[in-house]
Amino acid sequence: MNKLDVVLLPEELKNKDISDCLVVVIDVLRASSTIITALASGASAVIPVYQPDEALNRSKNYQQGEAILCGERNGKKLLGFELGNSPTEYTNNKISGKVILLTTTNGIRTIELARKAEKIAVGSFLNIQAIVQYCKTFSGKVLLVCAGDRGNISLEDTVCAGMIIKLSNKNVQQDNYQYDDSFIAYNTYCRFKKDLLGMTYKSVWGRHLIKMGLKEDLIYCTQTNIYNYVPIIKENIIVLSDPVSSE
Ligand code: MLT
Repeated sequence: MNKLDVVLLPEELKNKDISDCLVVVIDVLRASSTIITALASGASAVIPVYQPDEALNRSKNYQQGEAILCGERNGKKLLGFELGNSPTEYTNNKISGKVILLTTTNGIRTIELARKAEKIAVGSFLNIQAIVQYCKTFSGKVLLVCAGDRGNISLEDTVCAGMIIKLSNKNVQQDNYQYDDSFIAYNTYCRFKKDLLGMTYKSVWGRHLIKMGLKEDLIYCTQTNIYNYVPIIKENIIVLSDPVSSE
């Protein structure tokens, strides 16, 4: 891996040439965590669709039972959709062999904004070591893109990006980073590394999910390394990489 950088908001992609980059999309609460869980639990693919209406239209291209409509707005399952965006809903008995048409506010939008990248992968705490290994196999530039929260920086995505920097054996001071997004991510991770769950209790979106009665999602999404896979995007479809070998 030549260079590892972070952007704390997906809007920053609009002014960047990312055609030679591996972009890692990070939306800890909860799109990234849902995507990795769905694929690891047996879904055949996840199709990211930003607009709920478009997801509904695209579902008509499938035979009955072949694809399921999933997603959220403001954290709530959409009317008429089968599943929301709680990763724990994505159990093998519900989704095995099925195509997941997934629409979410920030995570899927970030994937759309990253379309011009050479490669796109999906990262979370759940598969963080696999992401680190996957990034090491890429010879070009790696850009960690935090999905944020409707234009605002999100604490949990920032911490996750900082942890990826740390696990990649990058030391932002030694590497002579500017006081840029990578520096902020790394130092925010150092501040919260001992208590990732407690960190989500302080985050704006984490508190919103708690108010909705979804504290279990925070507990689930702050586990580290429960999956050794990396979701990758091929021709607008998210599938699972082969298991990533550890060093
Ligand atoms: C998003 O993409 O905005 C989210 O993952 C929101 C959520 O469902 O928690």
